[in-house]
Amino acid sequence: MKQLNMIKPGVIVLYLLLGCCLTAIAGFAGDSKTLIMYYSRTGNTRAVCEALAEKMDADLVEIRDLKNRMSRIGIVGGMFRTILGMRTDILPEKIDMTQYDAVIIGAPIWAAKVPPAMRTAIYLNGFEGKKVVMLVTCDTFYAEKYQKKTQKLVEKSGGTVSAFYQIHAMEEQGEEEIARGKDMMVADALKLVPELERVLSLP
Ligand SMILES: Cc1cc2nc3c(=O)[nH]c(=O)nc-3n(C[C@H](O)[C@H](O)[C@H](O)COP(=O)(O)O)c2cc1C
Repeated sequence: MKQLNMIKPGVIVLYLLLGCCLTAIAGFAGDSKTLIMYYSRTGNTRAVCEALAEKMDADLVEIRDLKNRMSRIGIVGGMFRTILGMRTDILPEKIDMTQYDAVIIGAPIWAAKVPPAMRTAIYLNGFEGKKVVMLVTCDTFYAEKYQKKTQKLVEKSGGTVSAFYQIHAMEEQGEEEIARGKDMMVADALKLVPELERVLSLP
């Protein structure tokens, strides 16, 4: 008891301040984490985003379309909605973005656009103050005029797209178009990591 009385109030305040500073520093360090949010129907974008998340120590959130897009009717409906720029029901609807400075949006390309699930996720989430990179997987070259339209979706949700990358699922071999396979797509994605880290200004 006697010893406790000997601790001066000023010292206690000093310890409290030190504790607050350490908590703030820990919180600040956590802020630099990157979020990768992606939608994938047949697994190409998933494979690419999973590999990037592991390499970049980023958090990964899969956007799921609550309509079954694997069925024939589901994909026809999906294409229809994509062409018309319509949204769909997704989970999760809202992602807590507060701890992220940088966001990578991963999506396949359907009819030169992002599918309804990713369109919806971009619409429902705000990207104010975030560095955003778009990473699409597609069969053939995704022309700049379409990239710009896709970027506008992010801009409408308050974000700025710092860079746009595309990874191709198909390649020409002679007269034929053949699937490159997920391993090659993942290898392409991993080659982008130094550039992604620079664009997103990660430590
Ligand atoms: C309905 C549908 C429409 C597509 N439209 C295009 C397209 O317009 N341009 C393109 O390059 N690839 C197109 N693709 C190919 C996909 O973008 C490509 O295979 C992608 O890697 C699939 O990603 P996922 O496996 O993550 O779903 C289309 C695929 C589907 C299923």
